Amino acid sequence: MAGRVTDRVAVVFGAARGIGAAIAGRLAEEGAIVWIADGKAVEGEQTAQQVGGHFMPCDVSEERDVEAVISAIVEAHGRLDICIQNAGIFPETALDEISTAEWDKVLAVNLRGSFLAVRTAFGPMKQQGYGRIVLTTSITGPRVVPPKHAHYAASKAGLIGLIKAAALEGAPFGITVNGVEPGNVLTEGMRAERSQDFIDGMAAAIPLKRLADPREVAHSFLFLASDEAAYVTGTTIVVDGGQTLPEGKA
Ligand SMILES: NC(=O)c1ccc[n+]([C@@H]2O[C@H](COP(=O)([O-])OP(=O)(O)OC[C@H]3O[C@@H](n4cnc5c(N)ncnc54)[C@H](O)[C@@H]3O)[C@@H](O)[C@H]2O)c1
Repeated sequence: MAGRVTDRVAVVFGAARGIGAAIAGRLAEEGAIVWIADGKAVEGEQTAQQVGGHFMPCDVSEERDVEAVISAIVEAHGRLDICIQNAGIFPETALDEISTAEWDKVLAVNLRGSFLAVRTAFGPMKQQGYGRIVLTTSITGPRVVPPKHAHYAASKAGLIGLIKAAALEGAPFGITVNGVEPGNVLTEGMRAERSQDFIDGMAAAIPLKRLADPREVAHSFLFLASDEAAYVTGTTIVVDGGQTLPEGKA
């Protein structure tokens, strides 16, 4: 099958559902061999079956889990071409009510998980002299912030620094490192974690007047994971329906 990532070996962390499942689907449609690594075993297995890929259970904040996933992939295929770290959590809590444990948990999944994925993927990618790493950040943190997202915003803004640092150190080895900054995307996580009022309010504030479908975001991951993006590194693509454009309320 001819596609944009034919026979590339890919892992997507956090792909049992939502944006990650859409990314896994697009990569598979374009010919990649796709591995899904996620904490949700039942949904992860189902999504892997749907896209014709493989599943491994994984908590991305745990060093040994991330290493086990990448070792299994390299053992099975002899290489790892594409690593996407999309697992993330987004509890909504006012700053003065965020416990130290909740702060650490959000940073552990969103930021440390991404560091672990990058560090581990660097092993096989440096050896083979090729790699495409894409991290899911957000407009929340790097560009804007709603109330009750201090830990989340800090974690997603931190990813921008990680992307730049990793891009610089990966470049001599043919590894590119980039990110996607989604706006508001209608996913299972969004429906579970946010009220309908929040969703309606966001839709009203977005110039395109709706939230994104996960596939609309997945296309940018596919581009950054493909050879079309060979000269793109250390940067992000914003996919937000124009949400960060308005200077004030119209
Ligand atoms: N939905 C949005 O509006 C939006 C906007 C900007 C950024 N994002 C980011 O996109 C990513 C996906 O969001 P989504 O809306 O699809 O969420 P979701 O909750 O629908 O899906 C997230 C997936 O990540 C997995 N996951 C969570 N913690 C994990 C862990 N510790 N280890 C392994 N897997 C884990 C979940 O099991 C789930 O399958 C997140 O990083 C989120 O911060 C989402």
